[in-house]
Amino acid sequence: MEHALLGSPMNLFKQRGEREVVVGNAGVVRILRCGAAVRDLKEGDVCLVFCVGDLDDYGYPRTILGFDSPGTMGVLAKRARFRHDQLIRLPEKSALSLRQWAAFSLRYITAYSNWISASQVWRTQMEDAFPHECHVVGWGGGVSFAQLELAHMHGCPATLISATEAHRTAINRRGVVAIERSSGSEGDERLIAQLLERTGGRGASIFIDNIGANFRLTMRALARQGVITTCGWRENMVFPISRAAECIARRTHVFTHYAPRKHGLEAVEFAEARGWAPDVAAQAFAWEDIDQLASAYINGAIDDYFPIFEVNKP
Ligand SMILES: NC(=O)c1ccc[n+]([C@@H]2O[C@H](COP(=O)([O-])OP(=O)(O)OC[C@H]3O[C@@H](n4cnc5c(N)ncnc54)[C@H](OP(=O)(O)O)[C@@H]3O)[C@@H](O)[C@H]2O)c1
Repeated sequence: MEHALLGSPMNLFKQRGEREVVVGNAGVVRILRCGAAVRDLKEGDVCLVFCVGDLDDYGYPRTILGFDSPGTMGVLAKRARFRHDQLIRLPEKSALSLRQWAAFSLRYITAYSNWISASQVWRTQMEDAFPHECHVVGWGGGVSFAQLELAHMHGCPATLISATEAHRTAINRRGVVAIERSSGSEGDERLIAQLLERTGGRGASIFIDNIGANFRLTMRALARQGVITTCGWRENMVFPISRAAECIARRTHVFTHYAPRKHGLEAVEFAEARGWAPDVAAQAFAWEDIDQLASAYINGAIDDYFPIFEVNKP
């Protein structure tokens, strides 16, 4: 939604060319009515929104529902219409709350899919060192938060770099180490020294950079055979790299966009079995306050990676 409001990386309202667009691609819905051809879902089912739009021939999303997929309606609608493969039925009597599933739906599934690619790619060269010497490091953000906990659950040492104390405390509670981010060259040198110390002088094995604000530092901190992995871009879309240095260090670059359905289903199953989900605040933002929430989030005034808004009462 932030990308939609800022019109970056594309003005989706112009691109879609529709009279009205309802955005929003993370949430939980209840089915009111099913089309006659739908076999796997029924009225009353509670589902997570699996926000794929148009898929390629292998089931990977090209576009995203409630964002750049033409004709789709996002979760800011009080009632919306979805294709059956845009919903994943939640486990009955789930150990997780609906609010946790709502927070899970976009970022955790993105994190899961990116982790599958990044970890497998690292293992093609470093299998014998997985998981204990696979140091996973990420800049802040909800997707990194989810992915670092997942890495930790797979036995990898994981580190979040964050400027916000509340984020560092939250990730520490999940068993992941947090390092403070501060600006300026002194802050960068301190950060590099801390990362080298934490990784036995080798650097990060897998660096999750969904932000792009300090690509130079990301590359400096990456180990040999390292994987730089991303699903997003907050500040810079173009990263200059030295091809020679990357070849000599045998590094790999991984890019992913949301997830194929197989990863969505696996992520939900893993989350239910292992309790892999964010803590969410007891209070949800009301429908009328969503625009304030959006501006506050963009301005960094919300300390919580996973604020929840409520469109309809559950
Ligand atoms: N392709 C996909 O399917 C997909 C899915 C989800 C997200 N994304 C993209 O991935 C990116 C991250 O999304 P998200 O939801 O994880 O992020 P987010 O929660 O919105 O990230 C905000 C956080 O980024 C960190 N940050 C901000 N400026 C920074 C800077 N200059 N240097 C380092 N860290 C900085 C801050 O964390 P601290 O306060 O903790 O430092 C901030 O709280 C976005 O561009 C998003 O669109 C893509």
